[in-house]
Amino acid sequence: MGPVTANDPPGIGRRTMDKVLITRRIPQPGIDLLARTALVEISPFDRPLTRPELLEMSAGCRAILITLTDRMDAEFFAARPEVRCAVNYAVGYDNFDLEAARRAGVVLANCPGVLSRATADLTMALMLAVMRRLVEGDAEMRAGRFAGFQPFYMLGTDLFGKTLGIYGLCDIGLEVGRRAVAFGMHVIYHNRRPNPTAENELGARRVAFDDLLALSDVISINAPLTRETRHAFDYAAICRMKPSAYLVNTGRGPIVKEDDLALALSEKRIAGAALDVYEHEPAVDPGLVGLPNVVLAPHLGSATVEARTELAIMAAHQIAAFLRGEEVPHRLT
Ligand code: GLV
Repeated sequence: MGPVTANDPPGIGRRTMDKVLITRRIPQPGIDLLARTALVEISPFDRPLTRPELLEMSAGCRAILITLTDRMDAEFFAARPEVRCAVNYAVGYDNFDLEAARRAGVVLANCPGVLSRATADLTMALMLAVMRRLVEGDAEMRAGRFAGFQPFYMLGTDLFGKTLGIYGLCDIGLEVGRRAVAFGMHVIYHNRRPNPTAENELGARRVAFDDLLALSDVISINAPLTRETRHAFDYAAICRMKPSAYLVNTGRGPIVKEDDLALALSEKRIAGAALDVYEHEPAVDPGLVGLPNVVLAPHLGSATVEARTELAIMAAHQIAAFLRGEEVPHRLT
């Protein structure tokens, strides 16, 4: 099956338009925006494209709007030299080989900012869900096991007064910190560089990774996946956390070594975990599935109508800017 054309029927000027591929259907405002500047083709499949499909569908395209499952690497740039720009329908861009793009002179861009609030909301939802045992409680209700109010039934943990450790405090981490402070939490963070806004606005304190592990009651992972962050949370690191602490990951799955987390949880090294992203997405470590103190969400960080619409518009806007020869606002290469 070939890609689907999004433009109106052929008209004056159409012949001179550049061709652009969108690898998954995205909210219509993004498609409409791009169709004013380019001849837009959309993958007919509601799933990630295989490499051969991506190569076939992007033939003759000057730019492509891709999702985080589409890898942009030396092999792709060599096979499709006509593709001069790729914009990720995401803020994370670990699917990009930036060095290879620079060598090939290809412009790559991501979409920061527009999903920070939605992802921070989901981070708080996961934190609350695991600390207040919401998913376990829902299962109790559905199974008809609720026998009425009991003083010691399903006790959880307050957020108020606890220390939140943010691993990777940029746009999303800042939004998480704002919400946490509203819940009465204290914020510490571990970053390569200080974040003065978080320090001034939230009183957040920058700490070494070991201190983040040792001092936090909850750790929220909001870092990008890089060589440095991959498997930062392995068994040894997790065991340096408090036994009463929780781990929440809405960043990227491979930052946590998932089988190590399952082992640490089964040994009660920490109190619980809530994950939105997975090391081998869409698979989840079977060791986590049976644990009651784990909440598992299917990569929903930016999954609101508002955030995904903004994302589509931002991604489309950047491709349109590239095609018009203008500055690409969030250009990475
Ligand atoms: C989603 O995971 C994103 O990086 O935008």
